[in-house]
Amino acid sequence: MYTIRYILGAALIIILAVVWNYITTSLSVRTFSRELGLKNIAATKTIVQKIDTHAHFLPPFYYDTLKRMGLDKEGPLNSMPKWNAKDHLAFMDKLGIETAILCISSPGARLPGHTLQEAGTLAREVNNFGHMMAVTYLGRLQFFASLVLPDVEGSIDEAIRALDTLEAAEGIHPTPKRGHKYVVRQTRKSGSLSPKKMEVLNSRGATIFVHPHSLPDTLNLEVPPFIVDFLLDTTRAAATLVMNNVTARFPNLKWILGHSCGFMPFAGYRIGSALSLVTGESAESFLRELRRFYVDTAVSSSPSALPSTIAFLTTEHLIFGSDYPFAPNMVIERETAQLDTFLKLELDSWHQINHRNVARVFGSRLNNRRKKLR
Ligand SMILES: *[C@@H]1O[C@H](CO)[C@@H](O)[C@H](O)[C@H]1NC(C)=O
Repeated sequence: MYTIRYILGAALIIILAVVWNYITTSLSVRTFSRELGLKNIAATKTIVQKIDTHAHFLPPFYYDTLKRMGLDKEGPLNSMPKWNAKDHLAFMDKLGIETAILCISSPGARLPGHTLQEAGTLAREVNNFGHMMAVTYLGRLQFFASLVLPDVEGSIDEAIRALDTLEAAEGIHPTPKRGHKYVVRQTRKSGSLSPKKMEVLNSRGATIFVHPHSLPDTLNLEVPPFIVDFLLDTTRAAATLVMNNVTARFPNLKWILGHSCGFMPFAGYRIGSALSLVTGESAESFLRELRRFYVDTAVSSSPSALPSTIAFLTTEHLIFGSDYPFAPNMVIERETAQLDTFLKLELDSWHQINHRNVARVFGSRLNNRRKKLR
């Protein structure tokens, strides 16, 4: 069956976030707000604490590996962006972003031709680098750890290491073709150890970031994958997760799906009722499960995207994301301004989306880290 075959779609990147160190960094936020004409926000005189859950890094050794393999030409605009902490922090200051949670982007840790073992090693190196960033830029940079699928067991072990030892985050990088199949299927079906392992993460209330990737069959389409395919990838991930009852079975896991979960909010009712026709279960239960997801605003803050996202998920499930440095700075600034403009008169929603919802998603972890710093 189609859905089962593709279970979670092509390669997405699932990232479990766990660590959180809060910070006190002075930001030129009021200036920023004034620039955007957000007088009401500026007038509150509160320090704005934008938290960006959709931000990428490319550790130098990772970039070099991509380059060596000729993959540095594979980015959205035919080149992988270079990344360094200094430029990232400067950009964060400009946008009033206090904290960014980093992860690597497509193609993830499992590179073409690499064995699972090699991929696992690369993911661990990336995670160690993330830890170093988190320690160096305490509270400003955090990371979602990268994990490699279909090595479910290895992934979850690494997730636990990242959680416990690196005090950080965890992530799952599926391979383009067979990635998430395993995570989702085995949690639902017989799949030996993985339900138990998922339960480990569930019991920790881990946060999973699902990042899109190219679809399994790249048909050499003229239109580059990030333009349309990425949106289908996360939409299908959401449908697959609820169809397999994963969100209900592991209710403590929190899911953030990138880029407004593609077009899931727009198509949510249709997906719910179509799943109902296929499975015989109620559409309401699917809608309820779909509404558990959190989505981010990365390159999804247009005047047509925000209304449907908010209509389906409410502002409580929307989280600020930038997609730095894959989205050009100019695009991020435009998108952020669109979000701010859209929310201009809704100060409360502004705070929800820009930082409050994240605080809730990360729950006690976030609050514990905060306490430690004070
Ligand atoms: C989904 O999981 C929940 C919680 O474990 C359970 O109550 C429910 O019966 C499951 N639904 C299906 C269709 O398996």
